[in-house]
Amino acid sequence: MSTFKAPKGTYDLTPPDSAVYLAVREAIAAPVRRAGYGYVETPGFENVELFSRGVGESTDIVTKEMFTLTQRGKEALALRPEGTASVLRAALEGNLHKGGNLPVKLWYSGSYYRYERPQKGRYRHFSQVGAEAIGAEDPALDAELIILAVDAYKSLGLKNFRLLLNSLGDKECRPAYRAALQDFLRGLDLDDDTRRRIEINPLRVLDDKREAVQKQLVGAPMLRDHLCEACKEYHEQVRALLTAAGVEFEDDEKLVRGLDYYTRTTFEFVHDGLGAQSAVGGGGRYDGLSEMIGGPALPSVGWALGVDRTVLALEAEGIELELPAVTEVYAVPLGDEARRVLFGVVTELRRAGVAADFAFGGKGLKNAMKSADRSGARYALVAGERDLAEGVVQLKDLGSGEQTAVAIDAVVGELRSRQG
Ligand code: HAM
Repeated sequence: MSTFKAPKGTYDLTPPDSAVYLAVREAIAAPVRRAGYGYVETPGFENVELFSRGVGESTDIVTKEMFTLTQRGKEALALRPEGTASVLRAALEGNLHKGGNLPVKLWYSGSYYRYERPQKGRYRHFSQVGAEAIGAEDPALDAELIILAVDAYKSLGLKNFRLLLNSLGDKECRPAYRAALQDFLRGLDLDDDTRRRIEINPLRVLDDKREAVQKQLVGAPMLRDHLCEACKEYHEQVRALLTAAGVEFEDDEKLVRGLDYYTRTTFEFVHDGLGAQSAVGGGGRYDGLSEMIGGPALPSVGWALGVDRTVLALEAEGIELELPAVTEVYAVPLGDEARRVLFGVVTELRRAGVAADFAFGGKGLKNAMKSADRSGARYALVAGERDLAEGVVQLKDLGSGEQTAVAIDAVVGELRSRQG
């Protein structure tokens, strides 16, 4: 062990577990790639104001959880706590919305940073795969994104997840609801912090997990009863499209989400095997975000799924992904001449698309065969002086123990044909 450890709230991904993370990322990305989303990558840090304006001045993410960086007298930067604001900034900066082909559909995969109190499923450095559809207001687009997320989870074999769905209204109906909710909340017996929250972000109070607060919320005005006709109609269409696609959801009128940019459709995927940190993914529509960061009106919708928590969900359901073998063939040379020849064969195998590894470090036969077993390879290629003299190598099936001599120049072809 070295003097250093991974910083608090972070962890390293190392083989073999890291292969599961890669597979999860790929499984989430596959459906969106098939649906016309293009890959986008943005910097790991941005001007801090992008997030305070975009995610919201009063959110926990901005007030408590951002890692900010100072650079001698220059603008302050922050490690990105989420991806949506950055992706929209990049789309605007690159004029992607001006190509005449809206919505601009983008997907991303990367690291995000939040200074949170670490616990299982909640880290200071975590991974998301996300998708954003920028510049179109169409219930089918909201439905498309939700269906793609469901398909991603299903492709991994997950079963115990639920989709919570809500509408947060728009700039027509939300202000009046907000005022009505504030009136109701001001009459309750709440602590000072929560009272302050009533004034800045009253909807968040609905999300308070404390029982003493929840008890008092009975009878609070609900947004559902205050939605304008346009928002109601939009939400009904999203629900109908999901139902038609066989996607089950639960209407959750208390779902508010921790970011301020949402309008209309909001949703969260929760997994029942994860304890307190049950949200495996979430998203929604953010019709006003572009204007909030200085762009034109571009109604948009998207989601981000947490890779770390999706892996925990797989563990909770006891799902083992079928991962491709890291090594298919393991070469064991006996002697210098065999090292030279087998090293050449391994290089050729790799070039032919066969995953191959080699007993490095001059191991003896016994040790090298142990390494071959540990590598998970299906075959070992063993050769000593006598084999070389006959122009062959021994191809050993590590499962059955069966061994056959194969001519050196036929080995690559033989292994390729056995690859199945
Ligand atoms: P979010 O709900 O803040 O949304 O994060 C999405 C997912 O990232 C969460 O459901 C969770 O799985 C994972 N996640 C968040 N924080 C942590 C953490 N500290 N440790 C482990 N996993 C975490 C967003 O970030 C929005 N940008 C989603 C979105 C995209 N909305 C519209 N477009």
